[in-house]
Amino acid sequence: MFFQVIWLVLSLVTVATAVTYTVPSSAPSNAATLDPAPVGISFEFFTFPSYFTNVTATNQCLKNFDALTGTWPPIRIGGTTQDRATYDASTSAYVVYSVSSPTDAPTSLTFGPSFFTLAGTYAGSVVVGLNRGHNDISNTIAAAQAAKNAMHNLLAVELGNEPEYWLSDDQPIAVEAGSWTPAIDAESQDNWDIIVGSALNTQQIIQAGNSNSAPPTWGAAELIATENSTAKSYVHDYAHHNYPGGTISNLMSHSSISSNIAVFNADITASVSAGKDYVLGETNSVSGGGASTVSPLFGAALWTMDYALRAAAANIKRIYFHHGTIGACYYCFWGRYDTGAPYYGAYVATATMAGGSYISALDSGSSNYGAYVIYSSAKAPLKALLYNSDYYSGSGTRGSVSFVLAGLGSGTLKSKRLTAASASSRVDEGSNPTFGGQTFANGTCAVQGTETFESTNVSGGQATFTVAASEALLLYLQ
Ligand SMILES: *[C@@H]1O[C@H](CO)[C@@H](O)[C@H](O)[C@H]1NC(C)=O
Ligand SMILES: *[C@@H]1O[C@H](CO)[C@@H](O)[C@H](O)[C@H]1NC(C)=O
Ligand SMILES: *[C@@H]1O[C@H](CO)[C@@H](O)[C@H](O)[C@H]1NC(C)=O
Ligand SMILES: *[C@@H]1O[C@H](CO)[C@@H](O)[C@H](O)[C@H]1NC(C)=O
Repeated sequence: MFFQVIWLVLSLVTVATAVTYTVPSSAPSNAATLDPAPVGISFEFFTFPSYFTNVTATNQCLKNFDALTGTWPPIRIGGTTQDRATYDASTSAYVVYSVSSPTDAPTSLTFGPSFFTLAGTYAGSVVVGLNRGHNDISNTIAAAQAAKNAMHNLLAVELGNEPEYWLSDDQPIAVEAGSWTPAIDAESQDNWDIIVGSALNTQQIIQAGNSNSAPPTWGAAELIATENSTAKSYVHDYAHHNYPGGTISNLMSHSSISSNIAVFNADITASVSAGKDYVLGETNSVSGGGASTVSPLFGAALWTMDYALRAAAANIKRIYFHHGTIGACYYCFWGRYDTGAPYYGAYVATATMAGGSYISALDSGSSNYGAYVIYSSAKAPLKALLYNSDYYSGSGTRGSVSFVLAGLGSGTLKSKRLTAASASSRVDEGSNPTFGGQTFANGTCAVQGTETFESTNVSGGQATFTVAASEALLLYLQ
């Protein structure tokens, strides 16, 4: 009994968690191919012009990603208000609507050609979400043609947002049909893809799907099964929406993130078989603008980072983090005042994948500890990202995990750490995260502070990296 107790105490004191991986010398055959800019931003339809004309930080926050990757992040303009919007070729305004409070979303709005002129000024690719809910296809075709004419950067248009909610939202297309099922929606999407695609005289122009309810009931595999070759020829890619929600400790958990991404595996496979990309067209931590106790926290930054990497490793090509009503948006990366914690997570995911051609996870996704390797076009390891998703609330002792990596060559490795006081840290409460010692200025999104690298000696091809609970470390392998 005595020895058992001693053994137990010793093991608790001395056995720090260690995980061991060998970094492959060449990208494994199941590594996913990376988009040049996998981390994108979604802007709610009615508020997109305000983000671009009346929120100072927008341009710099996007530009910081371009500085890392050489490609401006992809954006998508859409959301619930795309199916409340009517195109008005005669208005000179970007958008016209009225709301009783500045933090309300409009129940109806019109938008003019300048909406697309503004979107056309963006230096990255743009997906524009158009209205199907109103069942006014000639208005949607007029909008699609105006978008195509004004935007050299138009990647695709969506025809409707989250159609599964249209009956409860009293959308005319569903009300007129009398019921609205995945099969009815799929037939409608296929017809619209053909009619709008032929009106534009452009193949591969539709971002199809755009449901939020989980597959297989609503999703790419279900939709693709209904498409004939004509409908398919107009599809550019398939998109799904996702808001995992839950408590902060569950949200940021690496195993929760891995299981959540695995929900999309069959749809990704179906899209690849159809020769199309699969993307998360609208996503963020908690639906409806976020939750105050979850979305602005540093734990949500860690979720953003790991979720983007796990998605890329699962062959999800682009992921568009949603930005809603300015001034009523807990999950937004930035607004008029603060640059929030989640921006740091998106920045680190972007920095990790920048310049890479392939990504694969070293871990199976079943533990709290994530590890990814990014490979060059020649399939040589470029970077690794280590994530300790153990939840640290800010009180008590902060634990850590030792990542023992083999296959590292020789010399000294540089790394940059993403950290904050705890998983509960909030920028608006004075607790800023840092990445390599740097922060992002409120209001402007400028990088500030001195970039700080850590160094680790490699011995016999092996090195050990300590990552505290609720922290991540980016290793530069070349
Ligand atoms: C710009 O933002 C301010 C709030 O900071 C608001 O009062 C004003 O109406 C906005 N202007 C436009 C054109 O959106
Ligand atoms: C696909 O279906 C549409 C009707 O939705 C039809 O007009 C078209 O001819 C079909 N194409 C093929 C190749 O069967
Ligand atoms: C941003 O402003 C908040 C107050 O809203 C403050 O707590 C935080 O320290 C500021 N962050 C930076 C990087 O200046
Ligand atoms: C790493 O290696 C360098 C040069 O070989 C040496 O000066 C330094 O002390 C080593 N650092 C550690 C932490 O062992």
